[in-house]
Amino acid sequence: MSPLHRRTASTAFVLSLPFALTLTTTGGCLVEGDGVYERAEAPASGGEGGAGPGGAGGSAGTGGDGGTGGSGGQAGPTFTEVEPILIAKCGACHGATPLPSTPSLVTYEAASAQAVRIVVRTMEGGGMPPVGSPPCTADEIATLAAWQAAGAPPAAEAPPAEGTWADVEPIFVERCGPCHGATPSRGAPFPLTDYASAAAHAERCAIRAEEGSMPPPGQGVEPCTADEIRRLRLWADADAPE
Ligand code: HEC
Ligand code: HEC
Repeated sequence: MSPLHRRTASTAFVLSLPFALTLTTTGGCLVEGDGVYERAEAPASGGEGGAGPGGAGGSAGTGGDGGTGGSGGQAGPTFTEVEPILIAKCGACHGATPLPSTPSLVTYEAASAQAVRIVVRTMEGGGMPPVGSPPCTADEIATLAAWQAAGAPPAAEAPPAEGTWADVEPIFVERCGPCHGATPSRGAPFPLTDYASAAAHAERCAIRAEEGSMPPPGQGVEPCTADEIRRLRLWADADAPE
């Protein structure tokens, strides 16, 4: 390892000083200077032997960010919060093409299968990331641990798309068309099977579907499913996009 690499490591150490201090007080003997990050305790299992992490240590370049981490907030972290940590702090060696004899850890499938090991190896004394790579911040370690403890849930679902006419047209045709067809029947006041007419009444349609009064019960037309009602509501809230 060149002197330059050591300098890089020292810089990263200074940036993450609060975390390093925490570690020092809890037993993970960190020494300032050349021996930055070297921990006196061996990991509970596994050890640092194996493929010689020291050699790989020079590839620190993933940027010692100040610890954005996942907020760990609301309902607990999902892979949405975990993925950026794995990419930034582990990706240099455990990326899509990992170092020889190391696992890839950046996909959900790989990371969830290794969740326990990820936590064990990033906790103090775990030796990951190895000496010379920017360490995880306390926040990041907490996020990884909370994610594992919660059963390593996948990425949070993206907020549902607003939906377009194509998403709701089948609902109007099937559930409303029997009365609100091109030529309205059975007392229905207007058609709902063409875009312009349905869009003009989008909010009322969502309301009537939500309250269960459309389609009118007992008239031989199946009521809307919960998912259909949700889609009608999304469409109306989005101002009935075409
Ligand atoms: C600079 C390269 C490098 C970085 C960065 C790195 N690792 Fe590793 N990792 C290795 C090497 C080399 C091995 C194999 C030797 C060993 O197990 O110590 C390994 C092995 C592992 C293993 C498999 C062995 C076991 O204990 O199950 C896990 C899990 C692991 N690392 C987790 C992580 C996590 C999580 C991060 C990021 C927070 C990370 N590593 C960052 C190089 C790296
Ligand atoms: C079995 C026939 C029938 C079906 C099926 C039907 N409607 Fe109606 N609809 C009516 C009748 C009759 C009226 C007029 C009386 C009323 O408003 O309850 C009406 C009125 C309406 C109105 C105008 C009144 C208002 O509240 O603004 C809306 C909007 C409406 N329907 C939406 C729908 C939607 C959306 C569907 C399909 C999810 C649907 N209807 C399915 C018969 C039907």
